[in-house]
Amino acid sequence: MQRGTLIRSAFALVLSCSTALMAKERVVGFTQIGAESAWRTAETESIKSTAKELGVNLKFSDAQGKQENQIKALRSFIAQKVDAIILAPVVETGWEPVLREAKKAKIPVVLVDRGVKVSDESLYATLISSDFVYEGREAGKWLAKRTNGKARIVELQGTPGAAPAIDRKKGFAEGIQEHPDMKIVKSQTGNFNRADGKQVMEAFLKSEGKNIDAVFAHNDDMALGAIQAIEEAGLKPGKDILIVSIDGVKSAFEAMMAGKLNSTVECSPLLGPKAFAAIDRALKGETLEKWIKQEDRVFPQELAAAEISSRKY
Ligand code: AHR
Repeated sequence: MQRGTLIRSAFALVLSCSTALMAKERVVGFTQIGAESAWRTAETESIKSTAKELGVNLKFSDAQGKQENQIKALRSFIAQKVDAIILAPVVETGWEPVLREAKKAKIPVVLVDRGVKVSDESLYATLISSDFVYEGREAGKWLAKRTNGKARIVELQGTPGAAPAIDRKKGFAEGIQEHPDMKIVKSQTGNFNRADGKQVMEAFLKSEGKNIDAVFAHNDDMALGAIQAIEEAGLKPGKDILIVSIDGVKSAFEAMMAGKLNSTVECSPLLGPKAFAAIDRALKGETLEKWIKQEDRVFPQELAAAEISSRKY
């Protein structure tokens, strides 16, 4: 074979190999809890848009708040032999068998936003989330300061069994523990959504009358529902009843500017870039740190006007 022909064939071979490599797109399955809050919609958007930017083929599944749907989606991703899985687990327990199946199939699972309770941590690559205990504690500390350690509090809890509901409750109790005159007089789930938050607050107002000084809502959406209930009861949210919540979504900042919400603790849902970076590392065979923690801060209403334009969700 002539030298020129040899070079051309070698070049063609290199080109076809690299095209084949480029053509093998990465496939990632993402099982999302649902769309119960503005926060969750922002998280979904962050993961979808990052996948798009990176050219990842994202298989998205909305579980409508049901663990059984998430387990079905996980099994379907495993059967499709996806490269990796992103799981936002609705509750903490009940994941071990399906995570074992993913491990057996050598598919790394990256947990986003909520953790799971398993006997073997090697069943997932890493957890990317905020510190929910810290968030609850900061909310409690803020309220203790604002009320001089004296308040009858009603609590709107998140989804039963969910890590943020369990941990925020625990953290809040820690935040107020040095104040014996701060009492949680009623506590019930509002399932992290606005409609349930409103309904539960209506019931609290009915049973407690005007004897409520403050609301601790495990997320902003429930706080916004509570605001509506308080207004409909002829009271002034943010003044007659103080309200502290968690997430830091834009509508919470608007409510703070309107004087109806007093404080929110940030919990960033913008987890897409970190999730895909973690997948990259896991697929390269790296052992990841078990918790990639998000740093969050408290936003009392005095800061709302200055901060609202820089909020990204
Ligand atoms: O897991 C994070 C929590 O879930 C957010 O605080 C809440 O808004 C969401 O639904």
